[in-house]
Amino acid sequence: MKINFNMKVKPYQKFAKYYDLFYSDKDYKRECDFIVEVVKKYGRNLGNFILDSGCGTGNHALLLVERGFKVIGVDISNEMILRARNKVKIKDTANVPEFMQGDMKRCQLNQKFDVCISMFNTLSYQIKNQDVLDYLTNIKRHLLPGGLLIADFWYGPTVLRSKDDNLIRIKRLEFGKDKLIRIAETTLDTFHHIGILKYQFIAIKDSKIVEEFSEIHPHRFFFPQEIILFAEMVGFDVIGLFPGYGLERKIEDKDWECVLVAKV
Ligand SMILES: C[S@@+](CC[C@H](N)C(=O)[O-])C[C@H]1O[C@@H](n2cnc3c(N)ncnc32)[C@H](O)[C@@H]1O
Repeated sequence: MKINFNMKVKPYQKFAKYYDLFYSDKDYKRECDFIVEVVKKYGRNLGNFILDSGCGTGNHALLLVERGFKVIGVDISNEMILRARNKVKIKDTANVPEFMQGDMKRCQLNQKFDVCISMFNTLSYQIKNQDVLDYLTNIKRHLLPGGLLIADFWYGPTVLRSKDDNLIRIKRLEFGKDKLIRIAETTLDTFHHIGILKYQFIAIKDSKIVEEFSEIHPHRFFFPQEIILFAEMVGFDVIGLFPGYGLERKIEDKDWECVLVAKV
């Protein structure tokens, strides 16, 4: 299947409402341990100011402020930012992240950061070559000299080996009589390096369907030399590509999540 670049996609417009429920088992704490490990190892002289690009509902940002970082989160989706801000409202401490709506390909925050994190495939949402370049260029613009980029993405060699084309996966959450169901259908556009994820959501309350909607989430996958070239083209020094989420070993063709670690 080929991606239609003119297709209007609005990921997370409706999914935002259910996002934290569907990812309640995601190990954000472990990912933050990894971020801290990278900063300790490769950013020894850096300060503690983090830009969370594609912060979503704020899960990394909220954990990172608890570990002493100052964090600003930016997300293109208003619906995700609203949810992140609601989490801040119920905190009884002044030490909270700030969340802003913005497209990281072009927004200007008028601040410079020590570290930029771009987690859970936010980089993969930049599907055209120019999008990737704009995204990385604007992140670099927001980093101090020596600043670090930590960005994960779908790892191309594993995507092609996984035979995920036309694969359907179902995730079902149950709360007594209420159910939330997500049907995910993946088709691959190997020419453009894109996995087209079509999600269908069904919410059931008291045995009745109360909501049903679909969202398309195109995910770009990157091959090692391709992402290194993109990063170097915009002026980053690539430190390495690591499996999600550890520095102990190199990336292998069985790893879905690959983390680019680069320095200005
Ligand atoms: C899978 S979610 C990850 C959210 C969060 N980082 C997490 O780990 O839960 C991807 C996020 O990237 C955001 N996003 C995609 N492209 C973006 C862009 N160009 N600028 C800012 N946010 C973007 C989406 O709106 C979405 O919230």
